[in-house]
Amino acid sequence: MKIYRVGGAVRDALLGLPVKDIDYLVLGSTPEQMVAAGFTPVGKDFPVFLHPKTQAEYALARTERKSAPGYHGFVFHCAPDVTIEQDLQRRDLTINAMAIAEDTGESDALNSVIIDPFGGQKDLAEKIFRHVSAAFSEDPVRILRVARFAARFNEFTVAPETIHLMRAMVTAGEVDALVPERVWQEIARGLMEAQPSRMMLVLRESGTLARIMPELDAIWDDSGSESELGMLQIVDNTAQRGLSLAVRWAALLSDLAGTANLAQQLCARLKVPTEVRDITLMALREQTQIELAITLTAEAIVQLFERCDAFRRPARFIEMLQAALCRQVTWPAPQLAYLEHALATAQAVPSGQIAQATAQLFPKQPQQIASAIAAARVDAIRYFTD
Ligand code: CTP
Repeated sequence: MKIYRVGGAVRDALLGLPVKDIDYLVLGSTPEQMVAAGFTPVGKDFPVFLHPKTQAEYALARTERKSAPGYHGFVFHCAPDVTIEQDLQRRDLTINAMAIAEDTGESDALNSVIIDPFGGQKDLAEKIFRHVSAAFSEDPVRILRVARFAARFNEFTVAPETIHLMRAMVTAGEVDALVPERVWQEIARGLMEAQPSRMMLVLRESGTLARIMPELDAIWDDSGSESELGMLQIVDNTAQRGLSLAVRWAALLSDLAGTANLAQQLCARLKVPTEVRDITLMALREQTQIELAITLTAEAIVQLFERCDAFRRPARFIEMLQAALCRQVTWPAPQLAYLEHALATAQAVPSGQIAQATAQLFPKQPQQIASAIAAARVDAIRYFTD
């Protein structure tokens, strides 16, 4: 049995980045031997095992052949005779297809050598995402991964032959076979990277955007016009400002503000989590009002709070404000502090006491309670809106 570090851990170590989780690859073993050695099998589709002590992931070397189109169409061949080169060859990118033998105490000199049969170190130095082999096309998630990596390693470019292959995969309908949850997972991860616009550019260039987010593809502006703060710049700003996933997603969709049903349709198709979707749709709906916050009357502000359930969900409301204000060049936008202050002031109104007093005064008119509380909140914030 021989053990290697593989994939992202080798890549990140060579880039001088902190290594989070290490993926191990096991050669010359069988599932039965792994279990006998105390490893726990995990993963339905792949032969992966957890180390009995460290809980790190150990995968058996394998060669993959596809049995049917689409994401679930894998059958895997893993046998003790698979070589390290064969395993690395079926990985996505050359920069992810390097291995380092773990020190087994047998041969120290060799163990520190990087196994790099596909030029991963060269591509790292030249900052290129290049597919390892034709096996890239066996997994359409890889297109999304390349896009996501572009957002993270923002000085890297995609090799022309890899873009070409990704386009061919899209044309062959491979991307259409991806389940929405998987698409969302990769998009969400890409949005949380340093420069999400680069993910969008790769998705656009490979033809993937038209398949997974046709609503955005249709309004894509290739002219690079600087007239308005473009969608890509808006999304990158939310990343630079360290804002949440919901805010970043809302920013991506901010050009759909006039056509809320398109945003709704997109969120539904990708099965965007409820909280992210709600913040997004609310921000699109309220964008204009919130941008004009400083000119709103106290009544309009309290109505805005009520429409957005701000008293019960203050944290979500603040996130929604950040999303609605994503186009603002000055950050934090003044409207944000203004509305936060108004909300805190309205929240300080003793609504319980008012409710009690109103119920005593109008025992048969419970609807008076809500209006009395609203009126008190309007009064409370009037001193700084007037
Ligand atoms: N891999 C692949 N194709 C995929 C997923 C993974 O070839 N669709 C291979 C790559 O060699 C990758 C390794 O499996 O480096 C580990 O995958 P994963 O942990 O998902 O990604 P990392 O490359 O480690 O990247 P991240 O830092 O995002 O975790």
